[in-house]
Amino acid sequence: MSYYISNLITKLNEDVDGIIIYNQQTNKLLKVSLPLYSILSNIKEKFGDESINDCDENFLRLTSTDAFKKLLKYKFIYNTTYNNSDSEDYSVRYRNLDTSISITQAYLHVTQKCNLKCTYCYNSHNLNTTPELNTDQLKYIINKLKEVGTKSIIITGGEPLLRKDIVELCAYIKKLKMHVELLTNGSFLNDKKEILKYVDVMIISVDPGNESYNKRIGLNKSDLYSTIKEIPEIHKEKIAIRSVITKGCESLLDDMKNYVTNELSCEFMYVPFLPNCRNDLKYLPDYDKVLGYDKDCAYKPSRCGACYRIIAINSNGDIYPCQNLIKEEFFICNILDSNWLEKLESSPITDTFRKLNVLKIQKCSVCDIKYLCGGGCRALAYNVYGSLDHNLEFMCKDLRKMCIDRVSNINFTRR
Ligand SMILES: C[S@@+](CC[C@H](N)C(=O)[O-])C[C@H]1O[C@@H](n2cnc3c(N)ncnc32)[C@H](O)[C@@H]1O
Ligand code: SF4
Ligand code: SF4
Repeated sequence: MSYYISNLITKLNEDVDGIIIYNQQTNKLLKVSLPLYSILSNIKEKFGDESINDCDENFLRLTSTDAFKKLLKYKFIYNTTYNNSDSEDYSVRYRNLDTSISITQAYLHVTQKCNLKCTYCYNSHNLNTTPELNTDQLKYIINKLKEVGTKSIIITGGEPLLRKDIVELCAYIKKLKMHVELLTNGSFLNDKKEILKYVDVMIISVDPGNESYNKRIGLNKSDLYSTIKEIPEIHKEKIAIRSVITKGCESLLDDMKNYVTNELSCEFMYVPFLPNCRNDLKYLPDYDKVLGYDKDCAYKPSRCGACYRIIAINSNGDIYPCQNLIKEEFFICNILDSNWLEKLESSPITDTFRKLNVLKIQKCSVCDIKYLCGGGCRALAYNVYGSLDHNLEFMCKDLRKMCIDRVSNINFTRR
């Protein structure tokens, strides 16, 4: 039997206990020791695309290692019995991923009213414009989502705590045994603390520094911090403080994280600022300056499932592919329509999103980590470049880094 070494191996990360290698053909990751990696490199250098001489000294050393079976299983090394077109080729599985409609998660914008004027807000064009539904209508929508199998509802806005019935709505979702996540700017938390009984996760948006650094305009941070300090431990476990990091804020992350974890006893996470248009690119943070915070980053590059797994519902019940695309041209239908699911299913917008994938993004289709990265958020591509298929060149380097950070945190000994 002849053996070959794959030419689709990428070295992703190196630390004291080994090197993470990735095979894009099988989309498999493996952590190998430094000596083993050097054996692989030697074999690659010596044999290239030719078959490996199975009497070769390095190959014989390799076959005697425990890792050899995994290298074969994940096709880092393959033999003549391997057929390139077989089902282990990840591109086949990737192209055939199930995109049938199954809405597991919905972003429910319960209001588009807001008390703050954050200059980065991706939703600013909708704020204080769209009418809102009443309690019964929202309960009807929640029932509809439950009926189609939705597992998780993310309550957002606008500022959700501005609604008088927000506690009742969260309690209603919880009663239906769905996961409730609430996104809030926290301004009205003091009067609505009991809501913590009915949510699984509460994400409070607070940015580092004062308004001369950040773009969250109008928040009284010291009032909010006093409120959070009074919340009992059992409920604090549900709270995460999430910061949007813009250019200039990177160096404040350390103090912010220390304060949140030590003084407020809450979880800390951040998202990099996501630009709403080309002009916003100047506010992008420098990701290299956020080194060491990879575990706290809430932004995960991946294929998101907009339209077929996730939908965004505007405050009047209109459905859009995602919360970043609540724009006229992406309107699909209204969830109060009796046949909303059929409309969603047959919409040309849904069709477009089902077909979106990293292989269609010109520069990404030839990238060695395309399946790990997915090419980044398509809503961002649209908002910045006006096309859902455009490469996110402004954050490609950062996406690559995020992917490597993410795989570096995998516990390989448990795999
Ligand atoms: C639109 S807000 C609505 C909920 C609430 N008003 C708040 O600010 O948390 C939803 C989330 O989007 C985040 N956000 C808004 N604009 C953003 C942007 N351009 N980039 C990254 N995150 C953003 C906010 O920080 C918040 O966590
Ligand atoms: S508080 Fe939330 S909804 Fe309001 S402007 Fe800021 S990010 Fe936008
Ligand atoms: S965005 Fe960059 S890292 Fe991600 S798939 Fe595209 S080229 Fe690769």
